[in-house]
Amino acid sequence: MSIMQPHRILFIPELLGIILSFVDEDDYVNIACVCKQWSEITLDVIWREVDDLSRLLSLLRPYKIRGRYNLFDGLPDSRDWTRFQKYANRVRILRFEQDNDVDYSGLLDDMARTRTTLDMLPNLHTLEWVYDDIDCMERATLFMHQRLRHLIISAPPLRHKDKVSFFLDICVRAPHLHSLDLRVPYCVQYIETAILELLRGLPDLKKVIFPEFFLTSSIVSELARMKHIKIVQFEYGFDQGLGEEKDVDTFAPVLEQGAFPALLDLAVTARIEHVMRFVNADFAPVNLTSLYINTYVEHKPEELHTLFVTLSERCPRLSQLYVLLAHHVTGELELVPAKQITFNTLTPLLSFPNLVTFQVTHKYPVNITLEEIEELAYRWPTLESLTLNEEPLVMGEFTLDLRALVPFARLCPKLRRLGLFIDANPANIPPTVELKPFAVLCVLSVGTSRACDPEAVAAFMSHLCPPKCALEVGVTWTSFGAHSCRVLDDDVRMEISRRFNSWKSIRNILPVLIQLRREEREKSRALQEEVEDLRTRTRLLMDKVDVKANDSCMIA
Ligand SMILES: *[C@@H]1O[C@H](CO)[C@@H](O)[C@H](O)[C@H]1NC(C)=O
Ligand SMILES: *[C@@H]1O[C@H](CO)[C@@H](O)[C@H](O)[C@H]1NC(C)=O
Ligand SMILES: *[C@@H]1O[C@H](CO)[C@@H](O)[C@H](O)[C@H]1NC(C)=O
Repeated sequence: MSIMQPHRILFIPELLGIILSFVDEDDYVNIACVCKQWSEITLDVIWREVDDLSRLLSLLRPYKIRGRYNLFDGLPDSRDWTRFQKYANRVRILRFEQDNDVDYSGLLDDMARTRTTLDMLPNLHTLEWVYDDIDCMERATLFMHQRLRHLIISAPPLRHKDKVSFFLDICVRAPHLHSLDLRVPYCVQYIETAILELLRGLPDLKKVIFPEFFLTSSIVSELARMKHIKIVQFEYGFDQGLGEEKDVDTFAPVLEQGAFPALLDLAVTARIEHVMRFVNADFAPVNLTSLYINTYVEHKPEELHTLFVTLSERCPRLSQLYVLLAHHVTGELELVPAKQITFNTLTPLLSFPNLVTFQVTHKYPVNITLEEIEELAYRWPTLESLTLNEEPLVMGEFTLDLRALVPFARLCPKLRRLGLFIDANPANIPPTVELKPFAVLCVLSVGTSRACDPEAVAAFMSHLCPPKCALEVGVTWTSFGAHSCRVLDDDVRMEISRRFNSWKSIRNILPVLIQLRREEREKSRALQEEVEDLRTRTRLLMDKVDVKANDSCMIA
């Protein structure tokens, strides 16, 4: 009898919860039947996160589908609500994205009318409500309450006149939000005042995510007054929203005494001179550990150099720095050597005491020699992630080849991501005998690099890359926010896809070669051990012979 009992450890709810989160959903029913306690824990796991609203609604009462509308088969009564509450208490995360083929508003309204308590999901901490019409917007507040912490939400549709009132509603219902992720399908000028109201009503915010071009001077000035703000970010892409470049043409937030007392992580779209003025200002957030700068204006390498010098002095705690110089004009991609980033532009990076992640993206390749790469790697042993403009749009001139990987593998043991623009040509492949492989490299990104003779390149790379190291190819330019940036010249696109093909074959053979090398290495290690073992035995034998010899000597 007792052998049929589950192990005692499985009665620790947290452990069982973790184990169950790895189990296939189809097996939940069986598990729930084991015993009462397991059933409770299983239900917790099943209902913790709900991303299908219909699953939740059908718990309350069966409903019928009429075209795109849904109707309960009768109004929910108190017994329905008592049963529902058993499950509703377990829901921590609710995700909903409007689907124009299904309309839940009738069901949600019936819930709103008949509910027996105000908070239908009392333990909900995360609500994601993504919609595009006003009907759907109005029903979002149904799930908001005092203990909600994380909100991912669309802004009111553009045609909705009173955007402020919806935001004020959020502030009253869920005033203690820690994070806010706002999706807006139009530009900031139509909603800026409403966003300012929203921020003023959410004093506990620690993290905000907006679409690009929403971090205007006024919004950043407001964020600077907030006591707990740690992370200010924007995301690219249609899902997050669509802003307009001109809205952040001037970046000049007002920083008063005590500004940004907690800020660690900031992303902005701004000209370099504006960023410099910002970090040089009195009361600037100099304790930043991560800074992401995107600019669509053309800048000279000298400006970049000055920015790095300024940041290294003003923000010594920076550990991550990302600079995207995203300016380019379709049809005007000619290499201008004076505008290329050089090793000299980058040297101030070596004076940051804590910098371990660096990214720069620019239309022209970095003009840096193999010797300078060696020096960079030598002077930056703490490096964890380096993205050295592997995807220039002007792709005809190379200063680096496969040899550029070698110093990083040898000198930067913590390197997890490396991006370089190289001409991978087997002609200048170094002899591979004394190559030290990367210790922990997870991603090698080659962007718009060129490769010929895929087999030879893959064979070389298999000496350096650890198993599971991913090879990334291609451009991110097309995912940036500004339209001017997303459009690439036809010849550029064609060249990129041509180069992509050789890398694709390399990507196909590389894992097999790495695996073979590994097996070879293990075999040779085993042989080595055997040789050592034999040597030791021989030595012992010889010693014995010696002793015997001496002994016999003494006897003699
Ligand atoms: C930066 O951090 C230090 C020590 O943690 C603190 O004294 C200082 O006020 C902070 N500065 C800003 C601008 O937040
Ligand atoms: C790189 O810069 C050097 C001078 O520092 C110059 O002689 C060389 O032509 C440049 N190379 C490329 C590819 O622009
Ligand atoms: C045996 O004798 C030789 C010569 O006398 C000496 O060099 C050696 O160390 C001795 N070996 C041992 C195990 O004592």
